[in-house]
Amino acid sequence: MENIRRLFAQNRDLVADITKNDPEFFKKRAGKQEPHFLFIGCADSRVPAETLTGVAPGEMFVHRNIANQVRSVDLNLLSVLQYGVEVLDVKHVIVCGHYECGGVKAAMGDQNYGLVDHWLAGIRDTCNRHEQELQRIGDDDRRFRRVVDLNVLRQVYNLARTPIVQTAWKRGRRPMLHGMVYDIHDGLLKELVLQVDGNDRVAELLETTRRSIGD
Ligand code: CO
Repeated sequence: MENIRRLFAQNRDLVADITKNDPEFFKKRAGKQEPHFLFIGCADSRVPAETLTGVAPGEMFVHRNIANQVRSVDLNLLSVLQYGVEVLDVKHVIVCGHYECGGVKAAMGDQNYGLVDHWLAGIRDTCNRHEQELQRIGDDDRRFRRVVDLNVLRQVYNLARTPIVQTAWKRGRRPMLHGMVYDIHDGLLKELVLQVDGNDRVAELLETTRRSIGD
């Protein structure tokens, strides 16, 4: 119970802190939201979208799931994406992976975890697509990091291929898609691909993804 009480206490402290400088902060946001960003990230507790990017309430629409997957059959993700793009008119859609991702690690191994194995099938597929490149990486940790990167790039591609994004681009080249990775070890965000705003950039993205890291 003590831990739950702590959340309420911290919430009150936060509100006091914010309203000290801007008494109308919450009232101003009560009527509507106008976020510029849609963030698709991993559910991992170490990757809180707003904290690691320093945005305030109202700035970022967020969807998180295990291993930041963008799947064309996921009604949850698609609903968030459609609402974000068509109603909120977000300028940027970010797919953010992170190193030490347990979902990616599970997909790379042979152990069975049950239901989540189905969820992670796309990452196994990515590993198979890049098998030759991955086999050439001798160091386990480097290989793990590379799969985290490839997973993000794949999800940006999946995002670009959704009818929601395709239709938006036909209408006026919005939103821009971005792929990034959060490094748990130092807290820094690394850019993988930025400003994918049309199918020509998607083709470049595929080319980048195919390129070997040449170790
Ligand atoms: Co993760």
